[in-house]
Amino acid sequence: MDTKLFFGDATAFETPMLAVFAIDQAEGKDAEPRPALLGAARALQAAATALLASGEFKAALGEVAVLHAPAGLRAERLLLVGLGKAKDLSLDRVRKGAGTAVRAAKPRSLRTMAIAFPTVEFSALLTARVLVEGAEFGQLDWDTYRSDRKDCSIDSLTLIKDEADAAAVSATQRGFDEGLIVAAAQNFARSLVNEPGNVLTPTVLGARAKAMCDEAGLKCEVYSSDKVQELKMEAFWAVAKGSAEPPALIVMTYEPATAPAADAPVFGLVGKGITFDTGGISIKPADGMEKMKYDMAGAAAMIGAMHAIVRLKPKVKVISVVCSAENMPDGKAFKPGDVVTAMSGTTIEIVNTDAEGRLVLADGLHYAKTLGCTHLINAATLTGACVVALGMINAGLFSNDDATCVKFEAALTVSGEKFWRLPCTDDYRDHIKSEIADIMNTGKNRYGGATSAAMFLKEFVGDTPWVHLDIAGCAWNEEKKPWHAYGPSGIAVRSILEWVRSYSA
Ligand code: BES
Ligand code: ZN
Ligand code: ZN
Repeated sequence: MDTKLFFGDATAFETPMLAVFAIDQAEGKDAEPRPALLGAARALQAAATALLASGEFKAALGEVAVLHAPAGLRAERLLLVGLGKAKDLSLDRVRKGAGTAVRAAKPRSLRTMAIAFPTVEFSALLTARVLVEGAEFGQLDWDTYRSDRKDCSIDSLTLIKDEADAAAVSATQRGFDEGLIVAAAQNFARSLVNEPGNVLTPTVLGARAKAMCDEAGLKCEVYSSDKVQELKMEAFWAVAKGSAEPPALIVMTYEPATAPAADAPVFGLVGKGITFDTGGISIKPADGMEKMKYDMAGAAAMIGAMHAIVRLKPKVKVISVVCSAENMPDGKAFKPGDVVTAMSGTTIEIVNTDAEGRLVLADGLHYAKTLGCTHLINAATLTGACVVALGMINAGLFSNDDATCVKFEAALTVSGEKFWRLPCTDDYRDHIKSEIADIMNTGKNRYGGATSAAMFLKEFVGDTPWVHLDIAGCAWNEEKKPWHAYGPSGIAVRSILEWVRSYSA
């Protein structure tokens, strides 16, 4: 999609479809809806008056209505896009509105459209950013493997903002440019998650990461079985060795143009990249196992984040470590009862081979520390227990450091992603105590399973400030929404970017 920014009068803009946003001004839960356009020009207001008064369009979030040949406008169609109740208006709703607008155009086979900026209290920069993010995100459907696929993509989108002073123009332009970078990164992550396990093996994931880095000018090393064993990553290797597909250890490094101070933070982005999780010898039931192709969504989030970091150029060093393997049952596979020694020296009793994510991350987190990372974040489709706890609306957030966690939570107000903090305090340490080794790879029972997994990871970060994102429930959209398709969500990319950038002076 060719997305452009235009400063001028939306009413005079020639386009097959012009989208404008509306909110419901009614207060109180039983009040009749009072839809109103979000501060659009008088000609737009006039064109929409009858529809707004009809009661047919209530401006609910994701609701759309189309007017053909709207009087007084050069556009062939006027698309009203609801953003919901006025009191609930947020940046994320504007983002969703932009996605809804684009997705409304697709089934109408329109290739060109425009969206008028809403008049909102948010900054010009962030408003421009979320409009681009939402539109670029909404544009994609994950149907490339379908022979009956009809390509309904939008070729050209123009975002129209009223003429403004120089400061507003430059802030809007910056937000627009950033939005394109962030959306491209998130969509890249989604494209990786969408790939089936037979296409995206660990080797292919490594090759895709390398190609992305080469194109962007980012340092990237991709290692395999030899290096994993040479580094004594026995926890990672235990998972990897049961598959005919070799593992990939992917290390991407971003250095800012000006060398940061010696005591400046170095960020470590660690991703779980299980390209298919059968459960191994503790094999999963057949029902739903096909979903386990997205068990590399944490890795995709980190690769996506690096895609944007090299373009957004924060003034901090960022290293990403992705541990990718296939978890398979085989004559060479690891088994319940095995004891392995992680790269850190910690011994682990394997109780369940389906708890493989924490094993690859244990070595990934430790390795990131040896590379000099002072702040760690990991993303992983780690536990079904997290899905049981939070459903598919919030992803799990865990941290060993309140200040770091608060900074991450602040980033969420901009990213619009939902993470809910769950505990991993030392009183849960007993969950992973083993009689045989230092720790075991499951909790002592099924209660608090997401926290047991977090406690396991915590063993490997030591005192380093660390954030753990359990995205098992949010990495794949089971339901379509007006603003997004069925399939990979790209969750965590935006939040990680915002968090890293919050440390860049
Ligand atoms: N990849 C799964 C977790 C998962 C569940 C991801 C649902 C996405 C959706 C993970 O490797 C796993 O199987 N975890 C086990 C751990 C248990 C054996 C302690 C689980 O959650 O059941
Ligand atoms: Zn598993
Ligand atoms: Zn898994």
